[in-house]
Amino acid sequence: MKRRVTKAIFPVAGMGTRFLPATKSVPKEIMTLVDRPLIQYAIDEARAAGIEDFIFVTSRGKSALEDYFDHAPDLENALRKSGKTELLQTLRDTNMDSGAIAYIRQHKALGLGHAVSCASKLIGDEPFAVILPDDLVAAEKPCLQQMIEAYQDTGGCMVATLEVPHEKASSYGVLDVASQDGPLVRVKGMVEKPAAGTAPSNLAVIGRYILTPRVMQNLTKIDRGSGGEIQLTDAIAYELTEGRDVFGYRFEGQRYDCGSKAGFLQATVAFALARDDLRDELSAFLDSIHTERQAAQ
Ligand code: G1P
Repeated sequence: MKRRVTKAIFPVAGMGTRFLPATKSVPKEIMTLVDRPLIQYAIDEARAAGIEDFIFVTSRGKSALEDYFDHAPDLENALRKSGKTELLQTLRDTNMDSGAIAYIRQHKALGLGHAVSCASKLIGDEPFAVILPDDLVAAEKPCLQQMIEAYQDTGGCMVATLEVPHEKASSYGVLDVASQDGPLVRVKGMVEKPAAGTAPSNLAVIGRYILTPRVMQNLTKIDRGSGGEIQLTDAIAYELTEGRDVFGYRFEGQRYDCGSKAGFLQATVAFALARDDLRDELSAFLDSIHTERQAAQ
């Protein structure tokens, strides 16, 4: 029987420079998508997949993130007194149990692989998930849950993957494919941010991973890679050199790159249009600006 995956790492130490000046005082992960901070979507996805221990790898200037996950007794009391039970429930749904959440500081920005390795002691000898909150996946069955179900049969390491336009492949970790069987891709190599024209495929790694604890050891063995950073992709690829299994999983769902302004805006519009309370007003507005733009052309 495969071990359950109950721990997830959320690397949230990045400076979010693409969203300056907003990120001067607000961590990127707290930025609001409709009415919820970006990180809440990642947490909800992890919870739905059965994750019980949430490990945040943070950096200086991220204390707003810790505050967000704290309970808010004064606010809860006020809502209770004024009979706002629905809002009270919304608020309570964001509460994390004491002990379920841990914060670790990454003291130096040495890359995603390094950030993950900072959580090594808390992971111990268990398989674990990694979720990059910038990659938001809208799906009927949450992306990590799809992967955990597939992982029950495969074991090994698994990364979420998605076809991207060939010219965009150099922005991602890219899979070298051995074979494919439905959504499952058997991987024979992985390259982080390949130089233009050298990508082994157009299957990009998207920010959901299920990893064996060996990846933590690999992270201590590999050299610095792309961008002079310690890359998670390289530590997973190391498994292949040792003859162990790595799979890509072509998930069902729509991925938004919330690390970019355009992606964040697209996700905002899509998520708002999916909401009963916002759909009509927003789509009428979008129709009207579309018509105006057409008339102006
Ligand atoms: C990271 C990973 C990369 C992956 C990407 C997905 O890159 O290093 O392998 O394809 O996330 O979003 P970053 O976007 O942090 O440069």
